[in-house]
Amino acid sequence: MTLIKSVLNESRLFRPEKEFVERANVSGLKSYTALIEEATQNYEGFWARLANENLSWKKPFTQTLDSSQAPFFKWFSDGLLNASYNCLDRHLETIPNKTAIIFESDEGHVTKVTYRELHRQVCVFANGLRSLGITKGDRVIIYMPMSIEGVVAMQACARIGAIHSVVFGGFSAKSLHERIVDAEAKCVITADAGHRGGKIVALKPAVDEAIALDGGTECVKSVIVYHRSVTPVQWFAERDIHWHELIKGKSDVCEPEWVEAEHPLFILYTSGSTGKPKGVQHSTAGYLLGTQTSMKWVFDYRSNDIFWCTADIGWITGHSYVAYGPLGVGATQVIFEGVPTWPDAGRFWQMIERHKVTTFYTAPTAIRSLIKAGEELPLNSDLSSLRLLGSVGEPINPEAWIWYYEKVGQKRCPVVDTWWQTETGSHMIAPLPGVTALKPGSCTQALPGIFAAIVDETGQDVEPGKSGILVIKRPFPSLLRTLWKDPARFKQSYFPEELGGTFYLAGDAANRDLDGFFWIMGRIDDVLNVSGHRLGTMEIESALVGNALVAEAAVVGRPHEIKGEAIVAYVVLKKEIPSSPTEAHALAEKLKLWVASEIGALAKPEEIRFTEQLPKTRSGKIMRRLLRSIAQGNQTLQDVSTLENPAILEQLKKAA
Ligand code: WT7
Repeated sequence: MTLIKSVLNESRLFRPEKEFVERANVSGLKSYTALIEEATQNYEGFWARLANENLSWKKPFTQTLDSSQAPFFKWFSDGLLNASYNCLDRHLETIPNKTAIIFESDEGHVTKVTYRELHRQVCVFANGLRSLGITKGDRVIIYMPMSIEGVVAMQACARIGAIHSVVFGGFSAKSLHERIVDAEAKCVITADAGHRGGKIVALKPAVDEAIALDGGTECVKSVIVYHRSVTPVQWFAERDIHWHELIKGKSDVCEPEWVEAEHPLFILYTSGSTGKPKGVQHSTAGYLLGTQTSMKWVFDYRSNDIFWCTADIGWITGHSYVAYGPLGVGATQVIFEGVPTWPDAGRFWQMIERHKVTTFYTAPTAIRSLIKAGEELPLNSDLSSLRLLGSVGEPINPEAWIWYYEKVGQKRCPVVDTWWQTETGSHMIAPLPGVTALKPGSCTQALPGIFAAIVDETGQDVEPGKSGILVIKRPFPSLLRTLWKDPARFKQSYFPEELGGTFYLAGDAANRDLDGFFWIMGRIDDVLNVSGHRLGTMEIESALVGNALVAEAAVVGRPHEIKGEAIVAYVVLKKEIPSSPTEAHALAEKLKLWVASEIGALAKPEEIRFTEQLPKTRSGKIMRRLLRSIAQGNQTLQDVSTLENPAILEQLKKAA
């Protein structure tokens, strides 16, 4: 087989500042090496120690890893615990009056809750859920705007052992319907509407429609409606109940349901590349442990941090680093209802100043769009509270990394580029900011206890410095347990026989350089084959974004008689697209030559198409499959239901 060829040429290196190292939770190479050695020599003992140190158990576990049903691995399985107890109750003795959440609404209204108050709200609401007959193992769909109540809903489910499945508020009634049906949800928690970017986004009507679709879903017995807005809603008295009515008179004492370590904490649907969404099922203890260790290792959590992860609770990032991770360690965190560009593109920077954020975690897509909207805007805010920056969701192009580091972090704050997935539950490959030297565009090295490797299509290790398929060789606690009601698809998707059946297949192509650093090259499905060379999408896109005129880029392949595939690049410029075709053509030629000179003639795009936006999923990922189909001139209709900006399709077709 032909290995994937790496063409990226990035040699900048940023070593951690002495001051940062001295104060870090994992400080210096020696402590890091000790962790790696412990994990290598005594794998189960390592995780058992961490599980005992980081989690509060009702009944301690005696068995660490059970591989008897591999790849359906079990961790800590005879232990009993509760996730909500771990996030709330255990802090009540030590930090009851510490602020748990600083919520800022779209309009800029700020609400703060302490751990004591959040605990009270969760207990009261959990008693409300119990009064509706919801018990351990029942599925509850949460379709809410970013809010304190969204987190309360998740925590309350966890408290009573109900399995939540959060559906992002931007999803349509049809997507919601599919998830309700697949999960056989007994209850839906929603709001009348959310407020985003000055607009009101209705939610309850989508719930009504989702439940009525296909002749009606029988499973949903109750719909709880939180009134965020003043939007009138249709009411179905036998089914609907107001949030405020439900909690009226409910006790604030709520004994947690002590569940087995393996009890499903939640299901989160992630769109597969084809067909029906996959219900990623996570455990309670293993999942929670991953969030806790990564909060301490990667985010170097300190008790006086103000932590802000901008992800919506509808995504895994919003589960691990909003709803569970920060609360588990007792952090103060910011939750934001709105969007980064409203009322203007300085909103994030103003909020960092306003709330004195120390740790800021966002996605490359947000970073690139904020560069386009106002490269210098961060300079208008006082960002001196920041000490650590994070990135997640896609490879971050070196140029975007540098901008983030210089303009937002003021060359003071390490940037932790965290590679992980809905399926892995928590960070897998990421720097430890008090240890790891940073290379822009690389997510650096695997965390202690995570045995990431690059293999070829038969599961054999590739030579150091070569690219291939990213796998994780040993099971780890925060890995998904199965796909909801579809164990066969779980096995086939993640532990394929071709790789030997025991490696976790992540689905990404990656390179590992001679220092052992990982570089994610894109999804395996998106790899291009140009004249027999397999190229990842990331490196060519990075080269384009490295040009001062380019804001964003996506590359795909189009069949080519001679080369096999020709590279077509979709480019969003920082400024307007030239109106004269001659000028546009000249610019396209210039960018082709730029790529050729940056990374080599092999990667030179055959064609460059300018567009005002790229098609993205609602979580901000570029939909290359759609671009590929347009580039190939396919008329066949693609499923575009998950597209964030459907209007862009017409423009893209015209650009062809
Ligand atoms: C896929 C997982 C992880 C939470 C949000 C996305 C890509 C994610 C990085 C990164 C390069 C990244 C991968 C991965 N990805 N983080 N730091 N560098 N690529 O979760 O929707 O499950 O997507 O996102 O392709 O497989 P997800």
